[in-house]
Amino acid sequence: MQFIWKNGALMPSENAQTHVLTHSLHYGSAVFEGLRFYETDDGPVIFKLKEHIERLFYSAHQLEMKIPYTVDQLCQACIDTISHNNIQAGYIRPLAYFGHGPLKVVPHPELPADVIVAVWPWGDYLGVKLVDVVTSQYIRIHPSSSVVNAKISGHYVNSMLAGLAIRGTKYHEALMLDADGYVAEGSAENIFIVKDNKIITPPTGTILEGITRKTVMDMAAMCGIPVEERKFRREEILTADEAFFSGTAVEITPIRSLDDTLIGGGQMGPISEKIQGLYQEVVSGKVPSFHHTLTRVESAVLTA
Ligand SMILES: Cc1ncc(COP(=O)(O)O)c(C=O)c1O
Repeated sequence: MQFIWKNGALMPSENAQTHVLTHSLHYGSAVFEGLRFYETDDGPVIFKLKEHIERLFYSAHQLEMKIPYTVDQLCQACIDTISHNNIQAGYIRPLAYFGHGPLKVVPHPELPADVIVAVWPWGDYLGVKLVDVVTSQYIRIHPSSSVVNAKISGHYVNSMLAGLAIRGTKYHEALMLDADGYVAEGSAENIFIVKDNKIITPPTGTILEGITRKTVMDMAAMCGIPVEERKFRREEILTADEAFFSGTAVEITPIRSLDDTLIGGGQMGPISEKIQGLYQEVVSGKVPSFHHTLTRVESAVLTA
């Protein structure tokens, strides 16, 4: 990563510095996004750029953080950062944070919000094609404790603890339940199960409302596969025909086992395979009905 966009300008990454008394460093009060961009014959394309930047503004709004840019300006910042770094495919990390000023938990109303955009090449997130999952001892943050559908940095201590608990084990990812014992999501991805040719996913309320989750639902509708949003318990995963995660980082990743029980014989099932394959076609611009979800970097023209 050579260049970072910070507060309106691209600069060598070593110049994108932050004061140690930055509010967000102390209190987890940053908001961020994670997007992927993909290589196509027409140059790199960003998937669902506008949706991600709008979610960034939604997250900032929950903390009464005023981002001093428009959605379009930050979309353009993502495009410019990719162009300047000359990367064909990878990950984009926009982050907005309360900067340096009075250090009180409740940010001073005049505390400025700093914004950065970084990009880097990125391959597989979990490093394997089929994942072994274990139920975490940590529950997903409670909806009465925070705004769970905002992507606030402090939330990620919850995800991090779940991840640290399985580091060095044979498991690739942790499953997080809600306070009532229902399935919520993975540490950084949404979960789906397949039963009797129907896709089932936990409802909104305790989860981050994934942009990939919505894409899965739209792709399923396109394929005529029914989708049900409803609560279910971990036992229902164990007896499901298939299960998979969705997320910008993991894209569509099938689950081989939960708590050492193989799901659907431990192979990728036909519906997971279909959704995974279609997702790759969508993000590489091969599905005309999803072209509006892609923003070309080369032309610097927003199509979304
Ligand atoms: C906790 C959590 N759930 C779900 C997701 C998937 O969201 P998306 O599909 O928007 O990347 C993410 C990733 O951002 C996440 O951090």
